Amino acid sequence: MSLFDHIREDVNSVLERDPAARSWLEVLLCYPGLWAVWIHRVSHFLWRSRLRLLARILSQVGRFFTGVDIHPGALLGRRLFIDHAAGVVIGETAIVGSDVTLYQGVTLGGTGKGHGKRHPTVCDRVFVGNNANLLGNITVGENSRVGAGSVVLSDVPPNSTVVGVPAHIVYRNGERVLITDPHDIKDPLSDALIALAARVEKLEEQLGGQAQPAEQFTAEAAEREAYRDELERLRQYVSMGEGI
Ligand SMILES: CC(C)(COP(=O)(O)OP(=O)(O)OC[C@H]1O[C@@H](n2cnc3c(N)ncnc32)[C@H](O)[C@@H]1OP(=O)(O)O)[C@@H](O)C(=O)NCCC(=O)NCCS
Repeated sequence: MSLFDHIREDVNSVLERDPAARSWLEVLLCYPGLWAVWIHRVSHFLWRSRLRLLARILSQVGRFFTGVDIHPGALLGRRLFIDHAAGVVIGETAIVGSDVTLYQGVTLGGTGKGHGKRHPTVCDRVFVGNNANLLGNITVGENSRVGAGSVVLSDVPPNSTVVGVPAHIVYRNGERVLITDPHDIKDPLSDALIALAARVEKLEEQLGGQAQPAEQFTAEAAEREAYRDELERLRQYVSMGEGI
């Protein structure tokens, strides 16, 4: 593939993915995320040619002009789109597949503890929302989506959506995943919930079966469903009004 073909497919991928992009010229002139990827292609070549200091210097020049800090050792696939560019960091041993979209502020970083392969692997067609942090030698499977502001610390299966700090799955293969067990969210608050649930169970035992065993989270799920129905009803109502 010629250099021109690479540039053309990069520009086309921006035109396909960003509704704000109107023309070829606009994409060439106003998308620092693309410049960052192109500068990286050169610095990665220098890195592989063992001109490591030169590669680091070039990547820092790229960072100065684009706000995107990509280590020259990182492996980037084709048609990577870094939208809005500012503040994106991609570490040395990160691997990024093809057709990946990263928004501003995304970090593909290390945890500060590992050596060797210590940055994430992001598979094809993954979407990472703004300011998400993917930390450590983890893998985000194909077609998965990471919510804005999430902190992902463990592997994400393919075709999933994860959100939160730390991130948990909310969709898998198109199906909504509802958390029914606090063990599924590994943060200090869930530890408190687990302790509380154990205490309630013990108190119920002490009551000797007088209390009705509540079905876990059924009420919350029903409330959420009703709320979604109401939102959908309002949305339809508003969209009907738009035509008037
Ligand atoms: C993660 C994302 C892709 C999910 O979109 P979706 O598939 O439509 O998912 P939903 O909106 O149905 O959300 C599913 C649940 O996750 C929650 N959620 C969604 N995004 C979240 C986020 N970033 N952080 C925390 N929770 C989030 C929703 O509140 C909802 O929870 P609920 O059912 O308990 O109310 C989207 O919310 C997102 O974060 N996109 C990033 C956009 C972005 O970076 N834009 C930058 C523009 S400059």
